Amino acid sequence: MKNKIGVLVSGGGTNLQSIIDQIHNKNSHDAIISCVISNTPSAYALRRAQQAGIPNHVIEHINYPDRTSFEQALIQVFDQYEVNLVCLAGFMRVLEDGFIQNYQGRILNIHPSLLPHFRGLHTHQRALDHQHKEHGCSVHFATAELDGGPLVIQAHEPILANDDAESLAQRVLEKEHIIYPLCIQWLCDGTIKCENEVAYYQGKALTQPLRLDEISI
Ligand code: GRF
Repeated sequence: MKNKIGVLVSGGGTNLQSIIDQIHNKNSHDAIISCVISNTPSAYALRRAQQAGIPNHVIEHINYPDRTSFEQALIQVFDQYEVNLVCLAGFMRVLEDGFIQNYQGRILNIHPSLLPHFRGLHTHQRALDHQHKEHGCSVHFATAELDGGPLVIQAHEPILANDDAESLAQRVLEKEHIIYPLCIQWLCDGTIKCENEVAYYQGKALTQPLRLDEISI
């Protein structure tokens, strides 16, 4: 049975685009993107969904009294599309445990840092400020802990002497567009899974994340 992916976005949606290009448009027998939801009406990601013919909705968190009711509204829309796999793609809201439990082991997030370094915002500037020699991005199963949850894969990016936050972000983003669709495909075809907050790759528990530069794809 095809996996029905629901994507949550808030911004430009370049990660959404990479999932559209590498999974949705390839007529994969494993997966389609069934629905995209943005919590901000102006998100360019919505335009990308429209252009790809993917149903898209705006659910603004400011219209709900609390996180729980906002998240119930997200679930209600995803249920209409029978979504069974959720991808957070530049989604700028923290999700509570209730939402996470509803899709146990079936929610992935992409984050622009080598977690556990630099959870939250402004990761590129923080990596520069801390004078790290390398930076990168991570895909992990989402839990209610912000940018926590079992890591699956990371892509490393050297920090160059003349880098600023923008130049670094640009190179990291290119890597995000490789590892995120790859991981989503893996979850769809059973190469990875998450049980009891442990990530598995090809049936083996991951004690540390895979590295993009060490796997053959
Ligand atoms: C990406 O670095 C993503 O990981 C972060 O926001 C940036 C832009 O994402 N959370 P997108 O272009 O909206 O996918």
